[in-house]
Amino acid sequence: MRRKLAAGNWKMNGTGAALSELEALSASYPTSPVEILICPPATLLHRASATVKDSGLTVGGQDCHAAVSGAHTGDLSAQMLLDAGANAVILGHSERREDHGEQNDDIRAKARTAMDAGLKAIICVGESLEQREAANTLDIIGGQMSGSIPDQATGENLIVAYEPIWAIGTGKVPTLEEIGEVHDFIRARLERRFGEGVGRSVRLLYGGSVKPGNAAEIFAVSNVDGALVGGASLKAEDFSGIIRALENA
Ligand code: PGA
Repeated sequence: MRRKLAAGNWKMNGTGAALSELEALSASYPTSPVEILICPPATLLHRASATVKDSGLTVGGQDCHAAVSGAHTGDLSAQMLLDAGANAVILGHSERREDHGEQNDDIRAKARTAMDAGLKAIICVGESLEQREAANTLDIIGGQMSGSIPDQATGENLIVAYEPIWAIGTGKVPTLEEIGEVHDFIRARLERRFGEGVGRSVRLLYGGSVKPGNAAEIFAVSNVDGALVGGASLKAEDFSGIIRALENA
């Protein structure tokens, strides 16, 4: 059985004051049948990890460097994230692909380093609106998967997040059929590459404008094991609505 996962990506939002949202969430979820992960900005990681210590929440990073250490000004290593209390890291988010020109090869290298360090890698894939309209969605996602998922992936160290770029922060969401089609495709590709056992154990998240109001129907789609949530993860009340929907799915 795959444990469901509600993951929040705070992106470049939040200073110390935002820890009160984590305090509220921790109080609401001392334990949970689902895994609850918040990925705050790196500056908050250490304090966030202390804040959620005795709760059902854990914390993760939003990116890491492919090298173990060295002369990379401004970057963070997987080991540093781990040291700050993270147990997971988001890699290859479309905003990193866009803002920092990250390519599949870069993401695969980062994922290797993250997995070697003992972090779970949440690898993001997803098509642009143009690609969807040209009926290229599955080709694009297949290519991103083969390029950015390393060979050492297992159900323990890999999570795949399907995030259509046009659905991120826009309030637009694919139809449930479209989400189901992509998630089934990702599952089949994983089974083909890694074998049925591993392929079936990797968790698949949907991301892109998930809100308390649409979470339940998205979580009912086959092969959706949870969500990667941006905007609606910033407030404890909103994220709580999504966690509840996942607990009840
Ligand atoms: P959103 O972002 O929930 O604000 O659409 C999702 C994401 O980018 O992970």
